[in-house]
Amino acid sequence: MYIDRSKFSLDQPVSSLDPNRGTYEEAAEWQRHGPVVPVTLPDDVRAWAAVSAEAARSVLNAHPDLSSDPQHWGAYNRGEIPAGWPLLHLIVGESLLNADGAAHRRLRGLLSHAFAPRRIDALAPRIQEITRELLDGLESVEPEEVIDLKETFAYPLPLMIICELYGLIDSDQQRQLRGHFRTLLSVDVSSAERQAATTGEREVLARLVADRSAAPLGDLTSALLEALDEDGGKLTQKELIDTLEFILSAGHETTVNALTNTVLALLSHPDQLTAVLGGELSWSGAVEAGLYWKAPVRTVFMRYALRDTVLHGVTVRRGEPIAVSLAAANREQYATVPAPFDMHDSRPYQRQLAFGAGPHYCLGAPLARLESSIGLSQLFARFPAMRLAVPESELKPVISTAINGLAALPVVLRPASASDSGDRAAQRE
Ligand code: HEM
Repeated sequence: MYIDRSKFSLDQPVSSLDPNRGTYEEAAEWQRHGPVVPVTLPDDVRAWAAVSAEAARSVLNAHPDLSSDPQHWGAYNRGEIPAGWPLLHLIVGESLLNADGAAHRRLRGLLSHAFAPRRIDALAPRIQEITRELLDGLESVEPEEVIDLKETFAYPLPLMIICELYGLIDSDQQRQLRGHFRTLLSVDVSSAERQAATTGEREVLARLVADRSAAPLGDLTSALLEALDEDGGKLTQKELIDTLEFILSAGHETTVNALTNTVLALLSHPDQLTAVLGGELSWSGAVEAGLYWKAPVRTVFMRYALRDTVLHGVTVRRGEPIAVSLAAANREQYATVPAPFDMHDSRPYQRQLAFGAGPHYCLGAPLARLESSIGLSQLFARFPAMRLAVPESELKPVISTAINGLAALPVVLRPASASDSGDRAAQRE
């Protein structure tokens, strides 16, 4: 069917970004319309969606006609976006994600130093210890007991690692931060509770900054307190707390879903799990394959047109926003369901988009890869006979336009009769 894409406009969206719809059903539908599609977001907010790998790259790779700064979003400036719009907190706000050009380079430069590969690699022994402690806590699980692996393992692990990265060593402060953070991630809290949690989280971070400036520990907070930009300037106190707050949200939920998605991929592809446990395939390969199979960031929100611009055959008007569907773009060639999880062919992963592309490419990617690889290898080494507690078709997705993952991952860590998966353990010995 011929589609005249030059007639596409935000006045006539051809599809929607619906949190209740499966990511790949959506991808398959969008890709039939072409690489850039006019869609409605919740509450009939309009945006373009880049859905092919090529379109995603051209939007993310510092396109000269596009900005990351929501102050260029026409509908927002005209007051057309309701104050309580559910995606607003993700989109507006001061962070390096919303900065362009020199302002972005300054913030990213200051942070890059703290995220240097050497510093991240040095965290490996502590990540191993933290993972071990968390798994020790799961040792008391009875045979055939069903637990939610997302809640008990995938959720706490990245949060504990971020506390370690930040030099947040005080256990009371850690507990407070976890409490506030959990409230902020909950959907069923009042706006007063949300506000109180935001204030509480910022207070913990302010205390952390005060503690680390009095006694630096070689952690990320101490490094950021010391880091100088090209002009010899430092981050202000507000910038520092904003940045710590942003990294906490950028680095947590993403990694939680990367872990759960990859555990699911391995449990539902037992031959490949056996090959990883037997050392024929690697844990780092499993991490890449999992990220490619189900990109944890479903959609990147957003970029804004600085002037009318033609993108892959459609005209995006000045001030119009463009979201990037990483889940669709990452697996463009497999828009049909089910898509393969195949660790034997690593070629597609090498150009994968799970961490974005261009100037805002995920700064935490080496850390996310390291902690996922350590987390998965220790989890399966400890519980090699683990199995899903329900058929895969009964697992529920997270209801979100931004995240691609599971609401829960019910598993049996210790099957009473470990016959199928026990075979796998036996093969290792
Ligand atoms: C598997 C886990 C993760 C995934 C899938 C992921 C994905 C992404 C994506 C897609 C972006 C680009 C967004 C855009 O272009 O608008 C991004 C940016 C970012 N991520 Fe991650 N992320 C992960 C883990 C982490 C971790 C662990 C940290 C730090 C602790 C982190 C810190 C950041 C930061 C600071 C940025 C902003 C970079 C910039 O604007 O220059 N991420 N991430």
